[in-house]
Amino acid sequence: MNSTEPHDAYFNALQQALNQAGIAWPSVVIDRARMRRNAVRLKNLIAPGSRLRLVEKSLPVPALLDEAMALTGTRALMVFHEPQLRQVVQHYPDSDLLMGKPMPVLAALHFYRHLPDNGFDPARQLQWLIDTPARLQEYLELAQGLGTRLRINIEIDVGLHRGGAADPAALRAMLDQLRKAPEHLEFSGLMGYDAHVGKLPPLLQRRDTGFAKAVEAYRAYQAIARAEFPELAPAMCWNGAGSPTVALHRQHSPLNDVSAGSALLKPLEFDIEPLAEFEPAIFVTTPVLKAQRGTRLPGPPWLSKLLYGGRANRAHSYFIYGGGWPAEPVSPAGLVTNKQFGLSFNQSILNGPRTPALAVNDTVFFRPYQSEGTLLHYGPIRVIDDGLVVDEWLPFGEV
Ligand SMILES: Cc1ncc(COP(=O)(O)O)c(C=O)c1O
Repeated sequence: MNSTEPHDAYFNALQQALNQAGIAWPSVVIDRARMRRNAVRLKNLIAPGSRLRLVEKSLPVPALLDEAMALTGTRALMVFHEPQLRQVVQHYPDSDLLMGKPMPVLAALHFYRHLPDNGFDPARQLQWLIDTPARLQEYLELAQGLGTRLRINIEIDVGLHRGGAADPAALRAMLDQLRKAPEHLEFSGLMGYDAHVGKLPPLLQRRDTGFAKAVEAYRAYQAIARAEFPELAPAMCWNGAGSPTVALHRQHSPLNDVSAGSALLKPLEFDIEPLAEFEPAIFVTTPVLKAQRGTRLPGPPWLSKLLYGGRANRAHSYFIYGGGWPAEPVSPAGLVTNKQFGLSFNQSILNGPRTPALAVNDTVFFRPYQSEGTLLHYGPIRVIDDGLVVDEWLPFGEV
């Protein structure tokens, strides 16, 4: 072990927990205490009368979802992947599900063909997301073929421009189709996603301006739906938000169904002002295999001197177990990637300053940009609490 303590007390404790559990290869770690505190923070952001819908794709691990659903007091999930949909239905026969993206009709058919007989009733508990009249027609034919009724939520574009109804005429066309097929299609609500809010440079659009525009769009589409289906209005699912805006929807929101997931783990892309009080709770960890002084590229030595000589953050080279992850090194401080040496998924290089220095077998901690992919690709997730690996959670598989 390195006696110069490259990490602060927090990461040092995580490192010791991993060492004690004998985990010395690339792993994903969840800090359970932090995740639990984030869950309580998220619950407190939901306005009275509104429902939190946990975004399953951002937390695609049954044991994690169990905790998150219990701590936030919700059974509502947003799902994005047919294989995960089937597993969610298997795990949570009492859940309320809204698809977060439009599924190809063949994927929807596959779901019905493999529906478990466990009490889950899609006609009551599942809303399919529909973005165009053509897809709605496909779903009508699916419902006719199956002899069933599908709940249909319509995707609306509130400024992200990722699809869905982009103007009142597009929404009216789909509402018209719904009105004509009440036997097979039940209109259940509207879904928008406003993750663009706060992403533009403030000179182009401030967060509060972007949010106000999104709210205006949600309200305008809802007004059309209310006018066309006044009898359904009280029961409609007006879904929207996402971790970047869930705090903004606490007051005066047009939504009664609010999605969020990533905030529970706060990966790197969620270091934003509205989530300032949330704590990072997911890390990718890996051991150092080789520690060298300086940075040496293959080829003539003068080239490395020219590129790296005297540069503080190139004082050491570390070859780590694995690499190439969509993540940034966070501990120890000062580590940087090396573009000239190139990418490796097997043994990749990091450079670092003279101090803190890493030794062979020390752990490097990364923060992933997002949780969704990260949780699926490293096998069991190591759950750390109070300085120990207390559990291992398996993510949903491709079934
Ligand atoms: C439709 C929709 N709603 C909400 C979310 C928010 O998820 P998260 O809170 O994990 O960012 C997403 C994420 O992609 C989404 O696509």
